[in-house]
Amino acid sequence: MSTETVTGTPVHVSMIMDGNGRWAKERGKDRIHGHFEGVESVRACVEAAIENGVKYLSVYAFSEENWNRPQDEVMALMELMVKAMASEMDALDRNGVRFMVIGNRERLDSGLNEVIDSCMERTAGNTALTLIVMLSYSGRWDILQAASKLAKMAVEEPEKAAGLLAMGQDGFSSLLATAGIPDPDLIVRTSGECRISNYLLWQGAYSEFLFVDTLWPDFRKEEFCKALESYAKRDRRYGKVK
Ligand code: IPE
Ligand code: IPE
Ligand code: MG
Repeated sequence: MSTETVTGTPVHVSMIMDGNGRWAKERGKDRIHGHFEGVESVRACVEAAIENGVKYLSVYAFSEENWNRPQDEVMALMELMVKAMASEMDALDRNGVRFMVIGNRERLDSGLNEVIDSCMERTAGNTALTLIVMLSYSGRWDILQAASKLAKMAVEEPEKAAGLLAMGQDGFSSLLATAGIPDPDLIVRTSGECRISNYLLWQGAYSEFLFVDTLWPDFRKEEFCKALESYAKRDRRYGKVK
């Protein structure tokens, strides 16, 4: 699905939240302190998104590749997810935020999955902003799971599969984990790294990119508003001539 916003406010802003470890290291602290502080930045971006009329905010919280980090960091991050959901959900719900998690949830433990389900159910009817936490996510995983669904459908429900294929790209998009969510208009990566790290490979086909040096724990409202200003100056052509 593509959102043809020409200028102005992006419908969907996505964040590759990078630099937590370096933020902590600069302060002589454990990496996990950076992750904790990063939750504050998510809160600030949620507020700024609502204030500015952004409808979808997705945040890359943990990639499929991040499972290869040291076990203690992975465990601490998973515990932080549960804690953050518990501490933030009242405010998110009060502010009209619909909360979603997208990723390979088979790799998450059952306790975490239960908390996610209850937060998603609780906030399902909210309409101010959709906050999507990309957890155990990777772009290649997403494309592969969509292709697997299509292959299975081709055997079990061939007419349905043919119908989807006839729809072309939108048909395939409907099988992605992000089905129903507009493609990101703007993808921001913090911490000075200029790469996509297996993020929204299909969905980001025509996204605008912004790479900033700020480390994620320092990325707050002001930075978010600056990113929106940068987006507003972009000229999106989608391959056409203007
Ligand atoms: C981003 O910060 C958070 C996750 C990937 C989970 P990092 O943990 O990658 O921080 P740096 O890049 O090492 O500074
Ligand atoms: C990308 O950050 C993933 C997330 C922000 C969750 P990484 O720190 O894992 O990416 P690389 O390893 O620098 O590419
Ligand atoms: Mg990193």
